[in-house]
Formats: sequence, C-alpha cells, structure tokens
Amino acid sequence: MKILVLGANGQVGSELSAQLDNVLAADRNRFTVIFAGRSTVDVSDLDALRDFLGYHDPNWIINATAYTSVDSAESEVSQAYSVNEHAVRVLADYCATNDANLIHISTDYVFDGSGELPFYEDSEVAPLGVYGASKLAGEEVVRATLERHIILRTAWVFGASGGNFVKTMLRLAETRSELGVVGDQYGAPTSAKGIAKAIAIILSQMSEAESLDERWGTYHYTGKPFVSWAEFAREIFLQAVQLGMISSIAAVNVIATEQYPTAAKRPQNSRLDCSKIRDTFGIESDDWHQSLGEMLNEIKGVSLQ
Ligand SMILES: NC(=O)c1ccc[n+]([C@@H]2O[C@H](COP(=O)([O-])OP(=O)(O)OC[C@H]3O[C@@H](n4cnc5c(N)ncnc54)[C@H](OP(=O)(O)O)[C@@H]3O)[C@@H](O)[C@H]2O)c1
Repeated sequence: MKILVLGANGQVGSELSAQLDNVLAADRNRFTVIFAGRSTVDVSDLDALRDFLGYHDPNWIINATAYTSVDSAESEVSQAYSVNEHAVRVLADYCATNDANLIHISTDYVFDGSGELPFYEDSEVAPLGVYGASKLAGEEVVRATLERHIILRTAWVFGASGGNFVKTMLRLAETRSELGVVGDQYGAPTSAKGIAKAIAIILSQMSEAESLDERWGTYHYTGKPFVSWAEFAREIFLQAVQLGMISSIAAVNVIATEQYPTAAKRPQNSRLDCSKIRDTFGIESDDWHQSLGEMLNEIKGVSLQ
C-alpha cells in the first residue's frame, strides 16, 4: 500500500514520518511512504500535481499542504484558493477515479467563533475571512467528490518545525520584559505531533475499511484543555524559564482583540468538541501542557530565527 504525504516540510507534515513509523510499526512492511514538499511538487501547479499523482499512483494521500498565512490571504485571495481549494479538488478527483483514500486537514476557521460552547463536526459553518472560506471550499470539494475521505479539523497548532505562536512568544521574551497578549479568544493549543499521531492511527484503522464504512467523514482533533492566548503565553514563559531557555518570565498583560488589529478577523471561540474522534477511533486529546514541554525540549538550544 502506497501512502503519499504532501506538505511534508510543514508543522504537521514533518511529524508524520515518525508517527507513521510508530503507529504502523508491526505492519510497516505493508506500506511504502513517499514524502513530498513544495520543491518536489508545487500543488498550485495543477497539471504538475496531476502528473505527480499519476506517476506515483498512491492508495492513500495525506494532505498536509495549505496556504496558512491568515492575514496575507485577505489580499492574496487567488493564491489561498489555489492551494486550499483547487489543489484539493485535484487530490479528491484522483482518489475518486483511482479507488484511493484521502486524509485532509482543515481548521477551526471554518466557524465564526460565536458563543462559548465547543463546535461539533456538524455545527453551522460561517468563516470570517478568506483563509477560512478557502479551507471550507476545500472541505466541500472533498465531501462532494469522494466517499472515502477523512477531514480532520484542528486549531492553534504548534510544533518544533515551522513558525508558530510558541516560537513567536519565545522570540519576544528575548527582548521584552512585558507584552500584551489577547485574552478574549479561546481555543486549545494542539501539538503537530498529536495531529500526526491521530492521522497515523486513523490510517492504520481505516486501511482495511470498505468504501461504505460509516467512519469516513469529518472529525475534530485538538489538544486540551481550552485556554486564552494570554493564558497559553504565560505557560510558555513558565516552562521556558524552568528549562533555562529564557532568563526571566515576561509579564503578560491581557489585551482585547480590538487592541491587536489584524487584516483578518479571528474567531473568538475556537473550541472544538473532540468526542467523536475519541468514540470512533479511541484517539484522546493530548494535554497541551505536556506536549508543550516536549516541544520546548526539542527546540531548546536551537536558534529561533
Ligand atoms: N497552523 C495552525 O495553527 C493551524 C490551525 C488550524 C488548522 N491548520 C491546518 O493544519 C494543516 C497543517 O498546517 P501546518 O500548521 O502544518 O501548516 P504549515 O506549517 O504552514 O505547512 C503547510 C505546508 O504546505 C506547504 N505548501 C504551501 N503551499 C504549497 C504549494 N503551493 N505547493 C506545495 N506545498 C505547499 C508549505 O510549504 P512551504 O514550507 O514550502 O511553505 C508547508 O510545508 C493545514 O491544513 C492548516 O490549514 C493549521
């Protein structure tokens, strides 16, 4: 069975190699895994992508590519849709005509962030900006084209590889003794490793599935528990000081969303309910305090630039 990982150098993509090895260990000989980053195939070049798929002929595609620059997407609309919708259509078409399966990653940004309760997989979608709308378009293409799909929505991703909130906070703490962090947006920080592990477990369980298996569909996976960005920042500084990565804890002043204007509007409520993935696949949310510690240990001593 041949698995193709697209977006292999992103936060999630770069964790997939180890997690597929771990989870598929006993069964590993049954699988060949091909990892492709942007330099191997630019997914926005749709003809090149079709040729690439035809050449490798995978049975499974894990799509970890995305246009993820939330603010830039407001002005780079066609680039965002090119990766987040049009390339996804090519993947779904390929799978539909070649009896292959697709695991596609999506986002809390498909919701409008209203209320204080967690969103379910079937909650009403209403993206606030171009990034969320383009990701929603990708989801819709997958659902409309392909029965055998898994869409995994996640949020607030951090990992050792790539840029993220944790690294931004650590960089700021090098030069600032206090900083303002938004305290009225809530969600659950999610380790890229946890997402990669969830994907590997799903693939392992679904590799024997039939097309009408009722487990195909959309799932939410995030870390736990829910916090605000300001609370997350405080924990980052606390753990980083304990690990000797920064010399002192920067004071976090809680600010409101309006005090930190951005090109794209963010959801106030990014809480995703993760009970469906637990009940269906036995996948429990990681406690992000622990995965944060693991990630900090990994990047300790490595330049943040
Ligand atoms: N980051 C978050 O907080 C967050 C939150 C919710 C959901 N998600 C979703 O989680 C998934 C993984 O996100 P991530 O955090 O791992 O993102 P990431 O680190 O930005 O990785 C995305 C990858 O896609 C690649 N890519 C972008 N355009 C491409 C193109 N035209 N051709 C080939 N590759 C291309 C990037 O390549 P380069 O490295 O060359 O740019 C990068 O390796 C995405 O579906 C994202 O929407 C992320």
